[in-house]
This record gives sequence, structure tokens and C-alpha cells, in this order.
Amino acid sequence: MAQRCFALIPAAGAGARAGAPSPKQYVPLNGEAMLVHTIRAFIRSPAIAAVRVVLSADDTWGSSADAASIRAEAGTRLGFVQAGGASRARSVANGLEALAAEAAADDWVLVHDAARPCITPAMIGGLIDTLADDPVGGLLAWPVPDTLKRADASGRVEATIAREGLWLAQTPQMFRIGLLRAAYAAAPGVTDEAGAVEALGHAPRLCLGSARNLKVTYPADFELATAYLRLAD
Ligand code: CTP
Ligand code: MG
Repeated sequence: MAQRCFALIPAAGAGARAGAPSPKQYVPLNGEAMLVHTIRAFIRSPAIAAVRVVLSADDTWGSSADAASIRAEAGTRLGFVQAGGASRARSVANGLEALAAEAAADDWVLVHDAARPCITPAMIGGLIDTLADDPVGGLLAWPVPDTLKRADASGRVEATIAREGLWLAQTPQMFRIGLLRAAYAAAPGVTDEAGAVEALGHAPRLCLGSARNLKVTYPADFELATAYLRLAD
């Protein structure tokens, strides 16, 4: 692959649904902040040229003692962008603008939630291999395993929805930096990168992810993520 691959990790959220005393990306899992685990998977991926983490403007975590070990492991491949926004989309768009100063428009960017610490180098490498020659790019995703119900206002089942063809969007989501910048400029209200690229009329490729690649969202998810992190990659 002639183009380089960059990782962009939005980590400027408050983690309201997780109910933790600090933003969830800083909650320790097996003794290290969630964000450290997430960064490490990319640092251990040989195809990743550099990792850029988007933090809130006033967040000093990048120079904290907590961050020191991963900084030492990563060296110059790790950098922090102090440019979080009011939404995930805004944080990613700000990170892309910073990345554009060091990357070419046809380099790839893998955008990955800080809140998915159980991603592995094998999953990252597989996604890059699958999409290396893709004209659009794509994302890790997981086929919906359960039967879906739509609720009415009183909490009773209004309808059963066929799960055939339905996938849960995960991250990383991998697109060329130029295309993704244009997509975010045109559709700043989306909830993921694929959504922005779809709004331009493209069809991102769905690549099989893993149940292991959960997004830590609710209090019970910390325990599950901790258990996955104890397993071998
Ligand atoms: N994120 C971000 N900037 C925001 C909001 C979210 O960088 N303004 C990041 C989060 O840090 C997280 C990822 O986007 O890594 C996915 O978002 P989500 O799981 O919704 O995290 P939070 O927004 O922090 O959680 P909540 O919605 O429960 O408040
Ligand atoms: Mg959120």
C-alpha cells in the first residue's frame, strides 16, 4: 500500500451514560486507563504510521503520569490534539483538520472510539488488508444477533423487525483523509464516519468485526471490557 495509515482516536466525551466519577476513557481497567489500552492496540499495529488522540481543549491527561507509560512505548508515533468539540462528529472533524497538516489527502485514517479498548492489532490489520484497494473505505461491524422489537410509548411491543441485513456499526472506520474531510464538511451532524461518507452518495464496505470490540457505554460494560482485556489477543 503506497498510502500511509493514521489512527485518529476521539477521546473528548464526558461519558455521561457510564456514570463513572471521571470521563470513562480514564477509568482504570486492569490497572491502566481505558484510553491507554485503546492507544496501545494501534501502537502495536505495524501498519499504523502515527496515532493522534483528540482531547478536550483544557484536558491535561496527555502530560499526566498516567499517560507516561504509553508515551514511552509509542515515542513520536503518538500525539495529542487539544481540540475536542461539543459532539463526537465535531471532535473527529477537528482532529481531521489537524491531521491534514501532516498527512496527504489520499492517506488513510482509521477513526476509532477511545471507548472501544478491546480492539486488537489483529482486527486493525485485518481491516487495513481488506480495504487497502477499496475505492471508498469501510468499517468494522457486527451482524445484529438478536430479534429486534420496536417499542410503543407505553413500553409494549409495537412491531418485530427482521434482523436480516442489519449490522451494528463499530470502529475503526477507515477512509481516505481527503474524502472524510469533505464528508464531514458536508454532513457535520452524523454519528459516525460512514454516515458522513454515505451522505456523499458512497457505500462503505462492512467488514466483520467482533463482539469483543464493544463500546463501553453503561456501568456494566466496564466489567465486560476488563474480562476481554484479560484474554489473549
Ligand atoms: N467523543 C468525543 N467528543 C465528544 C463526544 C464523544 O471525542 N464531544 C468520543 C468519546 O470520548 C468516545 C467516542 O467519542 O470515545 C464515542 O462516544 P460515546 O461512547 O458516546 O462517549 P461519550 O459521549 O463520552 O459518552 P456519553 O454519550 O454516554 O456521554
Ligand atoms: Mg456520546
